[in-house]
Amino acid sequence: MPTKKEKDDLTGQETTGHEWDGIEELNNPLPKWWLYVFYASIVWAVGYMLLFPAIPSLTGYTKGLLGWERRAIVEQDIRQARAAQATYLDGIRETDLSGIMGDPDLLNFSLRGGEAVFADNCAACHGQGGAGRPGGYPALVDDNWLWGGDLENIHHTIAYGVRNEHSDSRSSQMPAFGGMLDRDELRSVTEYVISLAREPEDAELAEAGREVYATQCAACHGDDGGGMTQLGAPTLNNDIWLYGGERGEISRQIANPRHGVMPPWEERLGEEMVKMLTVYVHALGGGE
Ligand code: HEC
Ligand code: HEC
Repeated sequence: MPTKKEKDDLTGQETTGHEWDGIEELNNPLPKWWLYVFYASIVWAVGYMLLFPAIPSLTGYTKGLLGWERRAIVEQDIRQARAAQATYLDGIRETDLSGIMGDPDLLNFSLRGGEAVFADNCAACHGQGGAGRPGGYPALVDDNWLWGGDLENIHHTIAYGVRNEHSDSRSSQMPAFGGMLDRDELRSVTEYVISLAREPEDAELAEAGREVYATQCAACHGDDGGGMTQLGAPTLNNDIWLYGGERGEISRQIANPRHGVMPPWEERLGEEMVKMLTVYVHALGGGE
């Protein structure tokens, strides 16, 4: 090891004195700015560790001198969001349905809130976005309504449901005609129902069912099969079916009808949510 500092001939740089096979190691210290940044980050890290929650322990973590807490901030955010929502919810509670329709702010809030509440509570039965599901779960996106598609009717259906225990629930019962009509009548009235919706396979048979329909069915489903929303009796003169439009499916419903049930929602979701849902469902396919 040489005792005095040596300089490299080529660069004029100090060497460390190490040399391998004629290759000398130059003494290139780290740039000053780099060192300062390095020291500064150490100081910053120590400071951060003291001030903020940092080091986990078996039972928790060091809390830090500032008492800063992520949760407190989130809670504050939530409080603010609630306060903002509360203004809207108050508005919705105090405004009737047509008033909400006329107020762009409340309408917007209802449509977006309604969409979220629908996805959580209704889509399981009525399908994503109200597309409906086979087996008696009506589509809400078309303008074909069992119980009426104006705001008041949609509101009533959602608030109190259909054929449940609630005293304001929608209710009606199609009788089971399996025990009231003979086989021929059942066959012919089935064909007649088909003829209301589309070209029947057997026009003569359909014609034979006209009389049965007029006496047994028209009171609920209407003379022309147009349905009756006061009774929740579906339209039969279009190709939209709750329980399927095949001959077998139609005939089964006539002989031994199913009765769709929907729970009431007002108690569970509250008045404001039901109003928001009403506006949302109405926008999906509401008429009138
Ligand atoms: C457990 C299944 C189920 C759930 C959940 C459900 N529904 Fe229904 N809903 C039904 C059934 C079944 C019917 C049809 C009842 C009938 O046959 O008259 C119906 C009917 C309706 C109707 C009347 C449609 C028409 O054509 O008149 C509306 C509106 C409606 N539901 C909205 C909702 C909303 C909004 C929610 C969520 C808050 C919801 N439903 C949740 C089963 C359900
Ligand atoms: C008391 C009223 C009432 C009478 C009478 C009645 N229905 Fe119905 N009908 C209903 C109701 C209500 C429904 C819907 C049941 C439901 O929503 O679950 C229905 C459903 C149907 C359906 C299923 C429609 C679909 O979209 O899937 C057919 C088909 C039908 N009725 C045919 C008949 C025929 C045919 C007769 C006469 C022989 C008849 N109904 C008599 C009330 C009645």
